[in-house]
Amino acid sequence: MQTLKGKHIVLGITGGIAAYKSAYLLRLFIKAGAEVQVVITPNGKEFITPATLAALSGKPVVSEFFAANTGEWHSHVDLGLWSDLMVIAPATASTIGKMANGIADNMLITTYLSAKSPVMIAPAMDLDMWAHPSTQRNIATLEHDGVEIIQPASGELASHLTGRGRMEEPEEILRRVELHFSRKESLCGKRILVTAGPTYEDIDPVRFIGNYSSGKMGFAIAEEAAARGAEITLVTGPVALHTEHPGIKRIDVRSARQMLEAAEKAFADCDAAILSAAVADYAPEHRHETKLKREKTDCLDLKLVRNPDIAAVLGMIKGERKLVGFALETDNEHDNAIGKMKKKGLDMIVLNSLRNPLAGFNKNTNQVTIIKTDGTEKEYPAKDKRDVAGDILDQLESLPGF
Ligand code: C5P
Repeated sequence: MQTLKGKHIVLGITGGIAAYKSAYLLRLFIKAGAEVQVVITPNGKEFITPATLAALSGKPVVSEFFAANTGEWHSHVDLGLWSDLMVIAPATASTIGKMANGIADNMLITTYLSAKSPVMIAPAMDLDMWAHPSTQRNIATLEHDGVEIIQPASGELASHLTGRGRMEEPEEILRRVELHFSRKESLCGKRILVTAGPTYEDIDPVRFIGNYSSGKMGFAIAEEAAARGAEITLVTGPVALHTEHPGIKRIDVRSARQMLEAAEKAFADCDAAILSAAVADYAPEHRHETKLKREKTDCLDLKLVRNPDIAAVLGMIKGERKLVGFALETDNEHDNAIGKMKKKGLDMIVLNSLRNPLAGFNKNTNQVTIIKTDGTEKEYPAKDKRDVAGDILDQLESLPGF
């Protein structure tokens, strides 16, 4: 299918061994209907010949500021305006560093700086170069500048070392590009609160009651909603995740009470809330100021008191705003989910199936059924959490009055 028909793609190629895959990526773009202009760095030409790329793209490859034979000036400004999307694959550590710092010493970087279109990069380098703090700093800068990073994969590297740093496969890069063009700006002007992750309820300065929630589902929802143009407040419990999307304001909290306080405050300015956090139902009545000592007795009594139900609190005050909750059930899942939706005043509930090994805590995939108050429900196959996030947002967008 011609998924990229009529799209103008500037394909930037830099000097890494993965450049041999760029010819195949170019072929995939062309087959999908795109018009592609290749811009290659001087080092890139050491790895793949412009003749191959020109033949595949049907256009002369741009590399220097001036054409060698005619002396004609290549306008990076025109290229930047022509582009619907710029994809740099592979992106070496050096190019990433130059992009992050605006060092415009070749045609590719000047084109990047002139580009009015979105930019994606697929980094490729040795594992130590990828892990180096300077590379990670530059990547964070690019993310902050709005560049989409197609994270490198793990596996055998050209150095014969094994680790993270391989350029993502051309098919996956194509998928990301297709996703980019099919993405809707459907949530422009909407403000959405997302809760994510676990809560930690402190027992003493070194111990807490927590759970296995990784926060991945909530972060995927925040990222997908931001990509659709929404302004997001992401209130998250303790997680090991990062998000750099400029449309996401992140608030870190620890306990259910802190989460409630932050969520209530943010909800005041929102059109909807998606509550994916795994909030602890109970917290110790007292947090001991000093570390609890091992007692002589065999038993330690810990008195727990019920935590506030954030979903129910927001459900009471929501008015016209929409509220989406989650249910993770081990038994009688369907009826329990519907009961929860009604009790908490939700407009829709996302039921995670714990029976499916591809669903649940700390996985990259999830399998859900979405149930709405109008009685409709839809069961989805197991998918990447980002795609599940898309399904949840599609359903939210379909709610009357949203
Ligand atoms: O009652 P249960 O924990 O199964 O409900 C799950 C839904 O309610 C989730 O959307 C969760 O984020 C939300 N919840 C909450 N505050 C709590 C408990 C759950 O917001 N204290």
